[in-house]
This record gives sequence, structure tokens and C-alpha cells, in this order.
Amino acid sequence: MPKWNTTSSAEKQLASILIQEISSNSDKYKQAEQLYQITLRLLNGNAGFSKDWPNFEDEITSNLIAEIVYQVELRDSDVKRSGSYFTPHVLAADMVNVAAQNWKRDRSSEIENAIWYDPCVGGGIFPVAIARFLLEQKMPPERIVDRITGSDINPLFAQATRIRLALVLSKGDLKKFTQLYNRCLNSISEEDSLLNFSEISDFFAKPQKKVDIVIGNPPYVRSNNLSPDVKKSLRMLYPSIWSGTTDLYMFFIAHGLNALKTHGVLCYVSPATFQRTSSASQIREYILNKASIHAVFDFDELEVFQNVHSHISVYALIKNATDTLTKYSLYTTLPAESPLTKNPFPIVNVSLNGLGDRAWSFHPKNTSILPLLERDSLPLRAYFKIYSGIKTGLKNAYELVATKHDEILNDEKSKQYIYRLVKPQQIEKWDLQWKGTYQIVIPRGQTMNPDSKAYQHLLGFKDELSVRSDLQKDDPWYSLRDCAYLDLFNAPKIVYRDISAHPRFALDKEGMAVVDGAFFMPTTDLFLLGLLNSKVGEFYFKSCCATIGSIGSRARLRFKKVYVSEFPIPKHVDSKARAAVERFVEQMLTGDTMKTQELEHQMNSVVLDIYRVPFEQRQTILES
Ligand SMILES: C[S@@+](CC[C@H](N)C(=O)[O-])C[C@H]1O[C@@H](n2cnc3c(N)ncnc32)[C@H](O)[C@@H]1O
Repeated sequence: MPKWNTTSSAEKQLASILIQEISSNSDKYKQAEQLYQITLRLLNGNAGFSKDWPNFEDEITSNLIAEIVYQVELRDSDVKRSGSYFTPHVLAADMVNVAAQNWKRDRSSEIENAIWYDPCVGGGIFPVAIARFLLEQKMPPERIVDRITGSDINPLFAQATRIRLALVLSKGDLKKFTQLYNRCLNSISEEDSLLNFSEISDFFAKPQKKVDIVIGNPPYVRSNNLSPDVKKSLRMLYPSIWSGTTDLYMFFIAHGLNALKTHGVLCYVSPATFQRTSSASQIREYILNKASIHAVFDFDELEVFQNVHSHISVYALIKNATDTLTKYSLYTTLPAESPLTKNPFPIVNVSLNGLGDRAWSFHPKNTSILPLLERDSLPLRAYFKIYSGIKTGLKNAYELVATKHDEILNDEKSKQYIYRLVKPQQIEKWDLQWKGTYQIVIPRGQTMNPDSKAYQHLLGFKDELSVRSDLQKDDPWYSLRDCAYLDLFNAPKIVYRDISAHPRFALDKEGMAVVDGAFFMPTTDLFLLGLLNSKVGEFYFKSCCATIGSIGSRARLRFKKVYVSEFPIPKHVDSKARAAVERFVEQMLTGDTMKTQELEHQMNSVVLDIYRVPFEQRQTILES
């Protein structure tokens, strides 16, 4: 598989020498000034290593500047907090091609007239790729420099971008470099981009002109890693996409769309989570209201960013367009070059009509079959309630295993605190594979007998237990967080895992404790169990659940409450059909496992009848 990140060892070595100089300062503005001085020395050939490092070309120097700032930043900041993963050049260059092609689609005007904007320039990978693209179109550098705008909250990154742009456009000519760099001082700014082009009309923002193309790789920061101040400001600036759990990059999608002129193009690379998670329903709605999705390049969990295996996609949106189809393609390897414009994978045209605020699926079949399953039905939540497993805050302390903890398990004084425990990975389809695991359960407000072995066992974890964030002020240190439904654990119920490649709903006949990572419904309804584990269930969940990885290949589904509770249950079910499903499930639970496949096959056919799925669509569901 090709690696997209290539910095020569010579550049890395020199970068590490130069960052010693920059490191003496922690002020980003001073670091930015030093970076400029270093560039001038490099261009003048008196960087101090001219013997070993002769004649820098603009390209090498530009890469070197990027390497310096990346190394400084990776050392100075926590990547998770700043969300900075840097785009490989191969991808950035091709995103520029895609954006340009799409921009030309709806206009007769030349691409040379377009104004580009990267709201989070980082080391300048996109501005530099745009500059190279426009140089290839034979545009003069002095015009190019005014067409590329951008910003970054980090002054060192904004500075690196100005320097790199000026280097590439001046081709290393010192006089030209300084002229172009000075012009970049206006067009590449160090600021919080999200203050501009927000939803509340330019309250904080300086007046800015709308742009033709927005391109970039926005910062990925989960909402729980954002400071309370940042959250407060985002909530005020982008009220219609704020959900309390919205990831930072999603605000950049709204920002980018707002920055665009009519029929402008937005092309981002980012996690694909906004397409499916429940916390992103607002941004999905926002996108559909403001733009058409022109293309989605789904990179699944391939290593687009070095050492990152998240589900990533590149997408092109066109503002105010009214397209009815989008082009979708799923990658199973990273092409060595032109990954988007010479995409070697099949491109399918998917109707945009079926897309709404719930999870998007770009499989053409899903948009036509889901409405069939949902007609004349009510969501599961109309009949059943779903509960989460217990969150202990320290799994190791509360979990006990037979043989290892027999002394506690056999202790009479501890018996009242001990429940049999089913761990998520012990939940299979239909059945539990219980492996002698137990859970200490101390309802909030209850005090423990200090002579019990369970209490003495927990004492070994007292320090860690006492600092759990959800422990209330007056709680004993061993208390579990408040849980109003502990009683429900003692009864039979349907249990299932949060993360699984396919539905695994099982009947817990014994009444076990369920922990975080699994959910349960306090019912023993075998008909429901049959529907959930059927091929209709599998098709529905694959279409609607958030995924880890891409749905077309190695995905694991998230069976979160929001998705399972929407599972459609037909309102009118013939009593014979209901009884047939119940009988199949009973046999599956008690009978010969060798026959399970055959029984499931028969049950699936009854379930398809119950949902009144027409003949033509049955095979698609059965193959899900
Ligand atoms: C994922 S990195 C991408 C950098 C670069 N575009 C690339 O692809 O290599 C995100 C960048 O966003 C910047 N950033 C984070 N929050 C920002 C904000 N509110 N306004 C502007 N830039 C921001 C970070 O400093 C970082 O450089």
C-alpha cells in the first residue's frame, strides 16, 4: 500500500536543527518571526549549513518550513486537543483538481477568477497545492497570490503558509519572495476562522467577501475536548448545528458553506462521522438545506493520515445547487497518485432524495428499501424502553471472575452485593456465552458491610474510586452512580452489544447485570427478538446505525439507543405469522445449533412477508 506521507530524511534532519532555534521561544508570534528570519537566511545561503546543504530550491525550502512547524507543533501541543492531522500532498493536490472541476461545472468563467479559501491552513498544504495548480494554468504569481485566502488560529501555522506560498510563487527569488510574502500578510491571517461567516450575522466578524471555493482539512476535536468557553461561543455562533456533542470540524462545514457564494464549491477531507452519528443530525440537515452533495470519496479506515485509522472521507458540496444525484465511491486501497480524479474504484450514482437528518447511507438500495420497511409501522420506542448497562467508572474494581475471586463469591456477607454479569463480548446472536463473570453492585445510598470480602476487595481500589467524576459529595467512595433501574437486572430481558458487525440480540433468561458497552430491554418478547435478529433487522441497522469503518467493508455498527429505538415494528401483524416467528425463535434458543441456519432462513422469509417486502427487493435484504 503506498504511503502518502513523504518527507525526506534530509529535510527532517535539517528541520530538527532549525527547530532548536525556534524552540528557545514559546510565544507563537515570536516563533513566527524567527521562522521568517530562518527563511531569509536559507534564501541568502547563509543558514549556517550552506556547505552541507547547498542551494535550496523553492520546493525543498517550502517542505522544510512545513516540516519545521509540524515538528514544533507536534512537540508543543496535544494533537487530540488541537485536532491537527496533516493532509498528504497527493490528496491535497487532487482535492484542488476536484474543486476546480466542480467550480467550472456551473460557469462559463475561467478558474483563474475564482477566490479560494482554506479556513485552517496548518502548514499550508492546500494554499501551496492551489498555487502550484494555478501556476500550471500559466497564471502570473502576482495574480495567484491575491486569489488564495486562508487563516489559522495558530500564528506559527499562518506564518508558515505565507512563507511557503511566497517561496513557491517566487521560485526562491529573494526580492520577489519578500514582495509576495508582504501581500500574503493580508490574505493569510492568524485568527479563529469560526468567528467569521457564522450563523449570527457577522456579530464579531470583520466584513469579509464571500469566496468561490472553500477547501481544507478542518480540525477534528471531540466536543468533550473543547473548553467551556469555546463551547459557549460555538453555541452562540452556530445555534442551529449545536448539539452539545458536535465535533469541531462540523462547525467548519457550516462556516465553509456560509463563506461561499451561490454555486460555490466546498471540498473537505474529514472524518465521515457527520454522515451517520446522531449528534450530527443538525449538520446533515444544514448541509441538505444549503447545498447539494456532489461527490463522496469514502476512504473507510485506510491510513489517509499517518497512524490514523478513523473513517475518513473527502466530499464536494455545491452551494444552492439542486442536484438529485451524488457520486459515491468506496476505496479499499490508497491509490499512489491522483486518488480522486483517477479513482480506480466503481462510482455509483446515489439519489439524494432519500437523505434527511438521520444517518446517511450512500448505498442506492437503502434509499429505496427503507421507506418500504417503515410504512405502516411504529418505531420500537413506542412499545419498548431501552436501558444502558451500568457505568462503574472503574471496571477492574467491580468485576469478579470465578476461580480468581472465589473467596469473595463464596462469602455470605458479600452475597447481597454480587450479581451475575454478562459482558458485551459474551452476548451473541440469540444466546449468552456467560463465562463465570460477576459484578459488585452497590446502589447509591447503600452502605457496605466493612467485614464483607467485597468491601475489602474494593478497599484495594479506594484511591481511584474516590476520584470518579460522577461520585456525588455525600456518597461513600464505593458507591455506583445513581441508577434507577437496578431491579430490572434481576429479571429476564433482551440484551445486546453496542458495537458489533451484525445484530446480536440475545435473551437473558437468568437476570444478569449488564455493563457499559451493552444495552437491554426489559422484555422477553420472542417476536421482537426474531425481528431484530432477522435479515430485515440486519438491513435496517446497516442502513441507519453509525459505523466504525465504512459500511461497505469492515464496518462495526454502533447499536446506540437512538438507532435501535427507531427500528420499525409493523402495526398490523397476522397472529399466525407472529406465532411462527416466536416458534422459530424458541427452537433457536433451545434446539440444535446445527439447525440454526436453516431455521433462520425460514424465519427470514416469514419476516419479509410481515413487512410486505415486494419480491424484487427481497434478495437485496437477504444479501445484506
Ligand atoms: C487538521 S489541521 C489541518 C491543517 C492543514 N489544512 C492540513 O490539511 O494539513 C487543522 C488546523 O486547524 C487549525 N485550527 C484549529 N481551530 C481553528 C480555528 N478555530 N480557526 C482557524 N484554525 C483553526 C489548527 O491550528 C490546525 O492547523
